[in-house]
Amino acid sequence: MLASDHAIEAETERLLRALLHVECDPRGRKWNLETCRAIAPLTLEINRLKKEKNAVILAHSYVEPEIVYGVGDFSGDSYYLSLAAKKSQAKVIVFAGVVFMAETAKILSPDALVVVPDRGSGCSLADSIDGDGVRKLKALYPDATIVCYINSTAEVKAECDVCVTSGNVYDIVANLPTRRVLFVPDRLMAQNLRSELARRGVDKEIISSDGTCMVHDEFTAGQVAEARAQFPGLKVVAHPECTPEVAAVADFVGSTGAMMKYVKTTPAPYFLMLTECGLVGRLEVEAPEKNFIGGCRLCPYMKFNSLEKIRDALAAPRADQIVTLDENLRLRAARCIDKMFELTPATT
Ligand code: 13P
Ligand code: SF4
Repeated sequence: MLASDHAIEAETERLLRALLHVECDPRGRKWNLETCRAIAPLTLEINRLKKEKNAVILAHSYVEPEIVYGVGDFSGDSYYLSLAAKKSQAKVIVFAGVVFMAETAKILSPDALVVVPDRGSGCSLADSIDGDGVRKLKALYPDATIVCYINSTAEVKAECDVCVTSGNVYDIVANLPTRRVLFVPDRLMAQNLRSELARRGVDKEIISSDGTCMVHDEFTAGQVAEARAQFPGLKVVAHPECTPEVAAVADFVGSTGAMMKYVKTTPAPYFLMLTECGLVGRLEVEAPEKNFIGGCRLCPYMKFNSLEKIRDALAAPRADQIVTLDENLRLRAARCIDKMFELTPATT
């Protein structure tokens, strides 16, 4: 069904109101009447399909702004989106993010058809260790609590005691009953965790596997020093997947949700966002009075998502777009994530 000219004009205006302030666009687009009109038929079609199929779109903050603001129903960080998946009553969940996030949604909402726009949207952290790798580490440290960062596969989650996200990792690990903790798969987050626990006076031994995020791993303390020299009063905001050297010189370290909150509530002339550029786009929309000096990086996997692929996954998902999990494995992974919900402080 083709949308009427009137519907397209109204959608164009809606999109323009939302996207007008986005300057940090991954494809260098300027959002104006022309570019918004070009995508309006597609966002209309997707929003119509969502109603028809009783579907919701969960969009991580790193995906492109026309997805977040054009068709997304829930947008945020991994914790927020996991909770949205758990509470969802929709028949279909389209996860615009990366595959481990869609898998998490399937674990938490098993009766829904969960689809992922591009099966190739991996993650260097999730891809760094499999279930076998965790089993080998567990055998070496039988007295440890096994903690996995949510950026891990369902198979890895099924092997672990509790899952964490960047928003609750410090609080959950600090309160675990054992002194020894095996943390997979992020080596850099494990280092940041050690520093934070030491700062809090919590005595834990954190053993980690060797994964890193190919995006956050690249920021350097030198980049921060240069930016500070150029922009007096600058606030540096980093994700806990960054190196400890970077975390040590940042003004704030937190999940993407916490980073957004910090920027919105902190008066400063400039911000340097040491994270994926999608978050800068979101802040340009939601805090247009703030100034960002660049320096963010793109996650290629998050950018595999597109409106066209979302439309196709909704209209008639291909087998490779549908997330399926062995039920026994799903139940074991669900236990690990439910433990996270149980241990997460209400303030997260
Ligand atoms: P958040 O949960 O903080 O959004 O992080 C997800 C992620 O993949 C960061 O690279
Ligand atoms: Fe994975 Fe890093 Fe991309 Fe996040 S930004 S999805 S951790 S590769």
